[in-house]
Amino acid sequence: MTQELTSPSPAPQAPGPGRGPGWWRDAVIYQVYVRSFADSDGDGVGDLRGARERLPYLRDLGVDAVWLTPFYASPQADGGYDVADYRAVDPLFGNLQDADDLIRTAHDLDLRVIVDIVPNHTSDRHPWFRDPELARQRYVFRPGKGEDGELPPNDWESVFGGPAWTRTDRGDWYLHLFAPEQPDLDWDNPDVHAEFEAVMRFWLDLGVDGFRVDVAHGMVKASGLPDIGHGQQAKLIGNQVLPFFDQDGVHAIHRTWRRLLDGYGDTHGRQVIGVAEAWAPTAERLALYVRPDELHQAFNFRAATLLMLALPGSAYLYQGEELGLPEVTDLPDDVRQDPAFFRGSRAGGQDGFRDGCRVPLPWTGEAPPYGFGAGGSWLPQPADWAPLTVDAQTDDPDSTLELYRTALGLRRRLPGLGDGGMSWQPAPDGVLAFTRPGLLCTVNTLPHDVELPSPGTPLLSSAPVTVNGSVAVLPGDSCIWWAIPTAGR
Ligand code: NOJ
Repeated sequence: MTQELTSPSPAPQAPGPGRGPGWWRDAVIYQVYVRSFADSDGDGVGDLRGARERLPYLRDLGVDAVWLTPFYASPQADGGYDVADYRAVDPLFGNLQDADDLIRTAHDLDLRVIVDIVPNHTSDRHPWFRDPELARQRYVFRPGKGEDGELPPNDWESVFGGPAWTRTDRGDWYLHLFAPEQPDLDWDNPDVHAEFEAVMRFWLDLGVDGFRVDVAHGMVKASGLPDIGHGQQAKLIGNQVLPFFDQDGVHAIHRTWRRLLDGYGDTHGRQVIGVAEAWAPTAERLALYVRPDELHQAFNFRAATLLMLALPGSAYLYQGEELGLPEVTDLPDDVRQDPAFFRGSRAGGQDGFRDGCRVPLPWTGEAPPYGFGAGGSWLPQPADWAPLTVDAQTDDPDSTLELYRTALGLRRRLPGLGDGGMSWQPAPDGVLAFTRPGLLCTVNTLPHDVELPSPGTPLLSSAPVTVNGSVAVLPGDSCIWWAIPTAGR
């Protein structure tokens, strides 16, 4: 239920959240999963030209930046997170000119562009890994245990399930914290550092505004690669420091990158950022990644959109959430592509499979592919998605899409909402209440209505709110933004 219930405050002087210096502090950043966003050439796979053509949709939605998932040359063993050439666009997604065009069009529309960088591992098709000599210098190779080296060097498990080691024809083993097609780089080798700095400069020169750093907690492993001592290690991730994740040594790498980004930004008169995808066991350890001399942000997704957008700081939206797309849970096994599905829970790896939330976006029409492209879609779309298309939801005040558009519009128009202060307010049990510049946010976490003294005029509501004189009735599981006076208005 989308309800913009009253006119918001006047437009701020300038430049608004996500736009001025320090733009990243309060920006709303939209993840474009390129393969599933929009297909321009009818091969059933989303591509860069398709994404570029749909950028006006994102500008109108009200986001400030797009983060593009990997579109680099890759055998696609893990949806592009297995990169074979960090400076080339995979033909599946277009070419370098398409990337350049997309970046320019985004900037013309006042949208910034963040691209993925994948430093923990490459593809096993990367030229370094294909050259046996180079591979042994730049990846993590070890002799096996056992009489003939037939056992893996230690007991580490892949996040996707199964052992984290694969034996080569020559008898030694290489480490892969993810799929066997994703060998881990050896960050003790200065060549690896130099290469990633050069790759970053390459994309900065093309105009990108920052990098989302994949597995930013993974590059450094504990010396001696000690055993962990028990299985089901995927369950430990994010709960404790592991010898392969969240080692203190990763912070030196992030410091170097921060110097590179700041230096580049200073020289080129723009602010470029690094965003950690960091799995850390505590908030305190996660905060280490965003110390002033490290990366600018560590991102997270939250579920309750209005609450998230009312909080200080930037926000990340995952492609399709603005349409309320459900995860597709009944994909047949033979269309699935996620390596975690094939190695996953059966082998003690990551829970859950990602294909179900990568089903291509529905744009328009009554039947698949719903305007995604002219030639079907690489994962089948459900037959009942017609009411969820962008066209079907546009101008429907009760739609999820209009809820997002309204919330993002308000966020831009309320001065200081993105980066200003926050103050908790008294509220009945089960209700959260806090003020931000220009609004009070109430969240009823209970499944039933709660009454409280009316805080004022509702601005935006995720469910119908009633105000009876001095009493407001908050529906169960709802978030409401209330107008409050802003100093100086
Ligand atoms: C995290 C990404 O979100 C995921 O899709 C990928 O499989 C792993 N990193 C490995 O690169």
